[in-house]
Amino acid sequence: MSGKNVLVTGGAGYVASHVVLSLLEAGYEVTVVDDLSTGSRNLLPADCRFLEGNIGDADFLANALEPDKFFAVLHFAGSTIVEESIRQPLDYYANNVANSLSLLEACRCAGIPKLIFSSTAAVYGEPSRSPVDETAEPRPINPYGRSKLLVERMIQDLAATAPDFHYGILRYFNVAGADPEGRSGQSGAAATHLIKSACEAVVGNRDGIEIFGTDYPTEDGTCIRDYIHVSDLASVHVALLDKMLTSDQSYLLNCGYGRGLSVRQVLDAVTRLSGGGLKVSNGKRRPGDAAEIVADVGRLHQVLDWRPQHGDLDHIIETALSWERRLSGAMD
Ligand code: UFG
Repeated sequence: MSGKNVLVTGGAGYVASHVVLSLLEAGYEVTVVDDLSTGSRNLLPADCRFLEGNIGDADFLANALEPDKFFAVLHFAGSTIVEESIRQPLDYYANNVANSLSLLEACRCAGIPKLIFSSTAAVYGEPSRSPVDETAEPRPINPYGRSKLLVERMIQDLAATAPDFHYGILRYFNVAGADPEGRSGQSGAAATHLIKSACEAVVGNRDGIEIFGTDYPTEDGTCIRDYIHVSDLASVHVALLDKMLTSDQSYLLNCGYGRGLSVRQVLDAVTRLSGGGLKVSNGKRRPGDAAEIVADVGRLHQVLDWRPQHGDLDHIIETALSWERRLSGAMD
């Protein structure tokens, strides 16, 4: 088995495509599997191997996971939109839970020793404390968060019975921004995320942006989140994988900066960086939004040799804007 040979499920998606870039830069050999239902092949560099298929297809998966070939699987494939999960819960349990079960079974058969799973801060629901650390009791409040938590539990239960299997579970906070070199970014229709949506408004692909609630018990009345640049999140995966090459431990880590920013702070920055070209209106609360979710990143920094390099809010927004302009055909 090549120590640096890894398989990435859902590799043509937003976060995973940035992770693929970072893995290649770090000298890993990367095989991507993706059914291209939401991902795009254009986000992938030429120097990774690509297999088109769905991880719920047992035969496809068994072929992809050649025994003793991969040191690790990084598992991203799945559905990620909170609102959609409320409308179509069974799709989320099928796509996230059932397909992950198939993947775990295939990993077990192929003797894969390491698995990194992309989980989410949505497992915390509305945390009773902020910053929230990994020991907080998960209480997800939507099918998306529940589906990710179920997969975390399946992985942990499997590891408890398999001494040669170790995992890294990464709970992402609010991922934003795009590759500073313009090789990847967030695509896909009907964006719901704050920074992506604001950038769409700046380039003229939506009328403006509405603040979902201005009466929260926060300093300016809007919700507070921990926005992490996607390239920093990508380098967390590489740092964790590097660590798992030599360690026989499993990890559960929050991924954020431990910095809370309000919706208004973010939109003020987008307005400034776009030269005032953003129409902002005050609206009602969006159901299910917690007032404040910020990561306690103590464990992340204790465990990994990782330092963020893209955390400046202006930089996060500038890279997101630049990607949005590229998507809309107006290259900057
Ligand atoms: N918001 C607006 N207007 C918009 C979009 C968002 O005011 O048009 C606000 C939301 O109300 C929220 C904040 O901006 O307060 C961030 O909202 P996002 O939709 O960008 O992200 P969420 O915090 O709802 O959820 C995201 C991911 C989840 C993840 C969670 C962790 O979608 O998968 O972060 O904090 F779990």
